[in-house]
Amino acid sequence: MRSSRSVALSGVVLVAISLLSCSHEAVVSDIYYGVSNYSFPEDFIFGVSTAAFQIEGAWNEGGKGESIWDTYVHEHPEYTPDKSNGDIAADSYHKFKEDVQLIKALGVKYYRLSISWPRLLPNGTSNNISTDGARYYRNLFEELLKANITPIVTLFHWDMPTPFMDLGGWSNPVIVDYFVDYARVAFNLYGDIIKTWTTINEPHQHCYQGYGADYFAPAIKSHGVGEYLCAHYLILSHAKAYHLYEKEFKPHQKGKVGITLDAFMGIPKDPRNFEDVLAVRSYLQIHFDLYAHPIFSAEGDYPTFVRQRINNMSLAQGFARSRLPYFTAEEVKIIRGSSDFFGLNHYTTYLMSPSEMEFSWSIPSMDHDAQVRMEQDPHWEKPGTEWLSVYPEGFRKLLNYVSDNYGREIPIIVTENGVGDKGQLKDYDRISYFNKYLYQLLLAIHEDNCNIIGYFAWTLMDDFEWSDGYLSKFGLYKVDFDSPERTRTPKLSVSSYRNIVQTRRINFDRYKPLPNKLNHF
Ligand code: BGC
Repeated sequence: MRSSRSVALSGVVLVAISLLSCSHEAVVSDIYYGVSNYSFPEDFIFGVSTAAFQIEGAWNEGGKGESIWDTYVHEHPEYTPDKSNGDIAADSYHKFKEDVQLIKALGVKYYRLSISWPRLLPNGTSNNISTDGARYYRNLFEELLKANITPIVTLFHWDMPTPFMDLGGWSNPVIVDYFVDYARVAFNLYGDIIKTWTTINEPHQHCYQGYGADYFAPAIKSHGVGEYLCAHYLILSHAKAYHLYEKEFKPHQKGKVGITLDAFMGIPKDPRNFEDVLAVRSYLQIHFDLYAHPIFSAEGDYPTFVRQRINNMSLAQGFARSRLPYFTAEEVKIIRGSSDFFGLNHYTTYLMSPSEMEFSWSIPSMDHDAQVRMEQDPHWEKPGTEWLSVYPEGFRKLLNYVSDNYGREIPIIVTENGVGDKGQLKDYDRISYFNKYLYQLLLAIHEDNCNIIGYFAWTLMDDFEWSDGYLSKFGLYKVDFDSPERTRTPKLSVSSYRNIVQTRRINFDRYKPLPNKLNHF
């Protein structure tokens, strides 16, 4: 279970009322048949995503340094249920040419991938650039372009160089300058051919699970303090990297830089209960707007509700100061508007209600600060990953939440969306998930006027799924992890997704699951 949380209320009544008025009761669910009435715009960006640590392998080749994930899973082999690590993963480091062909076969024209910071800078610092690492990414990007696929590059998808972690990682303010150094190296090396960058993937999951909890590396378990320090300097690092590009690179490279935030959507457990409505609001503000508001709102800085809540909690808990650090006025300005697009990752939705305390929480903690109990409706399908139930309507609500709160001018790119299952080739659950979620995205574009310009399916192939090791399968292509070749085989979802990309419509009837268990082999 990736998270379970709960609690608190205060001056958020207006927005809460709008959440109440579009409760999930209103949603029609019998729309998923035939060909979708709406189509994707001609220039809509369709792509597929991966992340370096999850597929590359070659953990110590070509002079690569260690990342926190290398170090953590080596030191704690029992961390993953299958006692696995990322040493070889899908071996994409060696098989990247084949992987480019897989992307081509999907019909998409965009590929979102990440650079492994310690592959490029083995110690993390820019005084030592790995020649092999630099060449690897150059070759990969050129191979993609040769295949007419545009790479969208993320600088940080959770694999911080271990030497920085020994100094406190994102909780140490000096990381800001080192991250900017790293960004400069990447912009210098690849900015001639890479025109879209995202600085950081899902800061919330990274800080909440890795600094607050011990669910992800670096497993600091500094509940209620660590995740806010991490958030603070990470947001600042993003903004400074953005401005570096604006000032030194954009004038001649003419690219774009953004950030990718993640959100589970919340819906009130009882849509008629106003307390539940407020719980959703509290959750979204503390877990999502904490990151989105400083960057995307007109006024900048942390949301007032979050500032007050954490200040009050800290005071009541006897802290000498707020556990949520303050940005200076200058920093607020630097951060505000520091993204050319809104990268959004979304997977699932939770039913929310208020709770003062839950068994699994610590005091202090982000969960305790939010005071929201989270659960999923047992009737929602759950194809294979414990934390991920299927509730497509939540996706449309989230897209509206972003548009309502941060405006319709900022283009939204859905940088990840997908579902885990047991790995069967006839992956009807995945086909159904993509169809239904993409249909909700179509409704958000056509009926709600949300400015969504792109969608990236997660993920190209089965990968190292963090705390699930290789047990959770999110890939469009199956990877045989028992074979030294790491053989790739297309699942049924490959042709289903390709059909959507090519026709720009969803044909719900194109793939019908076989009755019951016959699907799973
Ligand atoms: C992460 C991916 C991960 C996916 C599914 C997202 O939060 O960005 O790295 O594989 O969730 O677990």
